[in-house]
Amino acid sequence: MSQRHRLMPLRQVMAKLGLHIPLLVLDDLLVLRSPNLASPGPPRWIEGHAGKFVANLSYEPSISELLVKTEQLSQLDAVSKRHVDTGIMIETWSSCPLSKISPPEKPQDPSPLDPRAYLAIARVNWLHRKYKISNDDYLYTLSMFVIGPIRGAEAWGWRTLSPLERQAFFVLWREVGQLMKIKDIPDTLEELIVWADAYEERCMVPATTNHQLIVPLLEVVTSPMPTLFGWRNLWYRIFICLQPDRLRVALMLPQQPRILASLVNGTIRCIGFYLRYLALPLVWPRRAIPEVSKPDPVDGFLPRMRPNAFNPKPWYKPEPQGLARLLENMKVVLGLQNPEDIPGPKYRSQGYRLEELGPLRYEDYGHDEVIREAGEMLGCPLSGHWARETGKI
Ligand code: HEM
Repeated sequence: MSQRHRLMPLRQVMAKLGLHIPLLVLDDLLVLRSPNLASPGPPRWIEGHAGKFVANLSYEPSISELLVKTEQLSQLDAVSKRHVDTGIMIETWSSCPLSKISPPEKPQDPSPLDPRAYLAIARVNWLHRKYKISNDDYLYTLSMFVIGPIRGAEAWGWRTLSPLERQAFFVLWREVGQLMKIKDIPDTLEELIVWADAYEERCMVPATTNHQLIVPLLEVVTSPMPTLFGWRNLWYRIFICLQPDRLRVALMLPQQPRILASLVNGTIRCIGFYLRYLALPLVWPRRAIPEVSKPDPVDGFLPRMRPNAFNPKPWYKPEPQGLARLLENMKVVLGLQNPEDIPGPKYRSQGYRLEELGPLRYEDYGHDEVIREAGEMLGCPLSGHWARETGKI
């Protein structure tokens, strides 16, 4: 084959394609093609929560010490909000357009485009600016968002990710990392993996702060399970079995009996087989956040959004009305529902605004700064319902 006709390496092809194609590849993978998303019950529950687990958190003392200091971890409501808001923000920048407007020759009109991805990144930047975080810690956490899904799929997915899909994760997160002003992001996925493995070997060591961080999170993710006959405790143990050994040791979680680990492994393989060969094809695409780019205005108030699915702590779920209210009350009487967990203002039943997400203590702060930064990332100022022009909450 002549030099001219030799195939270009995938990463060079992706680099030339910009962000549009990687986002389409990921959308296809995460929303349309995964049979697990079509099949109800345990498989989806495991993948949903365990995925967030592996990909979204990094447990090194330098990171966990700071997170523990935020004092949000002893309160289950705060932990569950963090879990939900993190999911919303990541889902937002993974599935909404990341397409900047090229610098205009003359000042541009405010944007009619969907700026949700930039709003979510700008909000996280605003939250992070309150803390002193090292670039290495940022880079490692970023690497987990890329490597976590790849290794997660290898270990317990229904198939491994294709080279194109791996590259798509890398391209998306490199862009997010650049918008977060993370420096020295390696140019290739392979280099990122080598860097992250070396960092892990150096820094992933046992620490009580790691343990303090993981325990409430485990409580939140296992909370839908009944406590009867030790069922919830079993799920707690199953989650421990799912952690790679080095991570489990760093989290100071006890090693589980070998028989349980083998059972979990075997079950996951059976689930993989079921998902690959027996699960029904997807009927409706499943997205965690609303697909429409315009949040619905409610009664002339500032428009708000809701996730498409709700957690046991019902953040952003509308207050039940009529028959639904009656059913909720019945569940409380029958002991099937914690009366504390009925949707209402406590769980922000009015819905969310991206610039308000994060710990409740910051809910009313930073909005203008976030909206301005999102406009700078996009290439022109935000307008209409994306800016808070109605002035009402
Ligand atoms: C690519 C890297 C990272 C991403 C994508 C990311 C993402 C996020 C998100 C989505 C939130 C909002 C969570 C919430 O609703 O409370 C958040 C908050 C936060 N993150 Fe990160 N993060 C990253 C790296 C780090 C690192 C390395 C640290 C170091 C310790 C860190 C510390 C924090 C803190 C302290 C908060 C605010 C928590 C609070 O004030 O209660 N993040 N991050």
